[in-house]
Amino acid sequence: MANGLDDVVAAETVLSDVDGLGGRLTIRGHSLPELAGRWRYPQVARLLLDGFFDDLPGDAELAEAIGRARVEVFQRLQPTLSTLAALDVYSGMRAGIALLPDGGTLADALRLIAAPAVLTPALLRAKRGDKAVAPDKGADHAADMLRMLSGKADSPDLARALDTYLVTVCDHGLNASTFATRVVASTQAGLTSAILAGLGALKGPLHGGAPGPVIEMLDAIEASGDAAGWLRDEIVHGERIMGFGHRIYRVRDPRADVLKAVVRQLGGKGGTGRRLAFAEEVEQAALEVLRVAKPQRSIQTNVEFYTALLLEAAGFPAEAFSNVFAAGRIAGWIAHAREQQTTGRLIRPQSRYVGPVPDLVA
Ligand code: ACO
Repeated sequence: MANGLDDVVAAETVLSDVDGLGGRLTIRGHSLPELAGRWRYPQVARLLLDGFFDDLPGDAELAEAIGRARVEVFQRLQPTLSTLAALDVYSGMRAGIALLPDGGTLADALRLIAAPAVLTPALLRAKRGDKAVAPDKGADHAADMLRMLSGKADSPDLARALDTYLVTVCDHGLNASTFATRVVASTQAGLTSAILAGLGALKGPLHGGAPGPVIEMLDAIEASGDAAGWLRDEIVHGERIMGFGHRIYRVRDPRADVLKAVVRQLGGKGGTGRRLAFAEEVEQAALEVLRVAKPQRSIQTNVEFYTALLLEAAGFPAEAFSNVFAAGRIAGWIAHAREQQTTGRLIRPQSRYVGPVPDLVA
């Protein structure tokens, strides 16, 4: 029995393939480098949703429809913002999403795609006592997310960087949150219910909750002045190095390279160049420490390491990194939910009972 379902194939999918030995990610027939930095997020969302909604429009119309959905979500949830902002920013987003209709139409899907992009900046602003900035339905999705956060039109470079990030994390095989989404979808529950399951799974530090701790780790290592020593101490104390290791990849996560290149392109903006140089030093030290400490396992850099740097450069605080991950992954979750539902098959595995047996009454 595989405790973590390692190597168990639990779904057939046309959506994405993770080649853990080759270090390749395929999304609906396209390699990651073909999409990242070239396709906009709404286009990739359309690629993922294609075939799962009869009324799915073309690329330009879908981008406009997502823009209108941002406005609708803002109008629906604005009255609840002060209540949601009392929670941490991830839980606030999840609670806001729970207030959306729980159907299975394209309109339901578009509201869900819009929701993390709208709620994350609104909640961050509410937490610091600033008024929410309303979405601009005609703006590019990533650029609008940054504008709602800062209150001003940010540089096109940052918007492009965020867009590349959203595309890079849009789907990734049967990861924990996608599996959780498919389990709930298999009961024929609504899309919102399925997405809430994915959001719950994404929150944990072994999955989408890792990039926030990456920033804490970089800061702690900088303060210590001894990267290798700090990292060795963590391993000795049984801690995991955040941003390293993966269940499927035995080589470098291809998404790490895409995101690192984006951070490099942002260059000197806001100290990003200095931060990148330091992160590269830490990465080399971590790979060496892990190679020596865990020789039986090839532990490489995963997507979360450079995610942390990119989202920091884009102006998001570490507490909101998992929100932004969800803003990208949500199109993949919806496509998987629909794909699972078309099979009509309830996901219901078995457990093996190893507890005490009742006394047999003579
Ligand atoms: N730091 C230190 N040791 C590690 C790490 C790490 N980051 N990753 C794996 N290991 C070690 C384990 O301690 C274990 O060692 P042991 O055999 O001596 O006990 C061995 O490698 C195998 O560990 P598993 O848990 O079986 O590896 P698995 O492939 O299931 O782990 C996981 C994958 C959970 C992502 C792990 O690598 C980890 O905890 N990484 C840190 C958190 C992180 O970066 N998460 C984001 C992942 S990417 C994503 O989900 C979007």
